[in-house]
Amino acid sequence: MRTMKAIQIHRFGAEDVMQLDTDVPVPEVGPREILIKCAASGINHSDLFIRENGNIHIGPGDLPLILGREMAGVVAEIGEAVTEFKPGQRVVAMPAPQTRATGLPGGKEYTGCYAEYVLARPQDMRVVPDGVDMVTAAATAWSWLTAWYVLEAAKIKAGDRALIHAGGSALGTAAIQLAKHVGAMVMTTAGSAEKCARVKELGADVAVNYHEADFVDAVPGFTDGRGLDVIVDVIAGEVLVKSLTQLAPGGRLIALGSLSGGSRELPPELPGGRTARRFSITSHLMEYTRSMEKLDEFFALIESGKFKVIVDKVFPLAEAAAAHRYIEERRNFGKIVLTV
Ligand SMILES: NC(=O)c1ccc[n+]([C@@H]2O[C@H](COP(=O)([O-])OP(=O)(O)OC[C@H]3O[C@@H](n4cnc5c(N)ncnc54)[C@H](OP(=O)(O)O)[C@@H]3O)[C@@H](O)[C@H]2O)c1
Repeated sequence: MRTMKAIQIHRFGAEDVMQLDTDVPVPEVGPREILIKCAASGINHSDLFIRENGNIHIGPGDLPLILGREMAGVVAEIGEAVTEFKPGQRVVAMPAPQTRATGLPGGKEYTGCYAEYVLARPQDMRVVPDGVDMVTAAATAWSWLTAWYVLEAAKIKAGDRALIHAGGSALGTAAIQLAKHVGAMVMTTAGSAEKCARVKELGADVAVNYHEADFVDAVPGFTDGRGLDVIVDVIAGEVLVKSLTQLAPGGRLIALGSLSGGSRELPPELPGGRTARRFSITSHLMEYTRSMEKLDEFFALIESGKFKVIVDKVFPLAEAAAAHRYIEERRNFGKIVLTV
């Protein structure tokens, strides 16, 4: 049996439950699957939540588990029925471990990305152009696709006044640039003066340091008293409750996380044509199986210098626990990537 290195969790808990195992079986390639030799794996905040507690799809019965949902690397082997990719190609993949958990082909066989080899299906992958390095490619997939499809769900358009919470998160740094790209005005929140300065460099028109000011007070000036057309909330709890009060008539709030650990409950109805709904990139990818094609456009705009994928820090795979701790302490501005 071929074996590989991978960061696995054998129980849920704090960072130190992640261990570097060297005897993990290399996944067997099915007819419509591709084995990718991993160069870089992006860390998403949901990895921290899964490590801590699992989630609705992942419970104790699924342990040990390799964390990680996005990676970039080189195609090592292809299944006999794969025509879309060939060995040696540079690719990015989001192997959607939860998709497998929910009963689609592959069953409960997880294929996390904090590993030397990763299994993916053709629809989970795109080719990475030569002008995009592996760390950038790994950092783009989850955060930029989520940012784009969230803004699309919010029907953002030129001239909209948008509030993007947690502007310094990996998702926030992508969403700010994408919202500006479609011609919206962007207000964002961040936890330090330095992060506020950096989100402005990315194009944010207004940045509120939430330790020093209440974003609510900045909304009237930013919107000429009309309220916000679009809100992207990943904080939940009190921030979500306050955000809902700041929507303009016809405004759209999309909630997709709970960094605060607070309630994500949304009102069933809002007055004046305002709407509030949840979003999940996992569900989106399952429903719209060609969603990853959007990455081709992003890569072209990254190559041309129009979009900047912010990678704050790169850790070696063996230091995954330190990388999670860094994020837990809110030290990151943009993405953290593991190199394998
Ligand atoms: N449902 C989905 O499909 C989906 C997909 C992607 C992401 N998300 C969600 O989006 C959020 C961001 O994910 P990410 O991977 O981009 O995050 P990340 O890169 O790990 O960034 C986290 C940053 O958020 C900021 N933050 C603001 N309030 C916070 C709080 N109460 N607790 C912790 N951090 C706080 C911190 O910066 P400051 O110093 O500025 O506070 C921190 O550095 C997460 O909630 C994640 O679950 C959801």
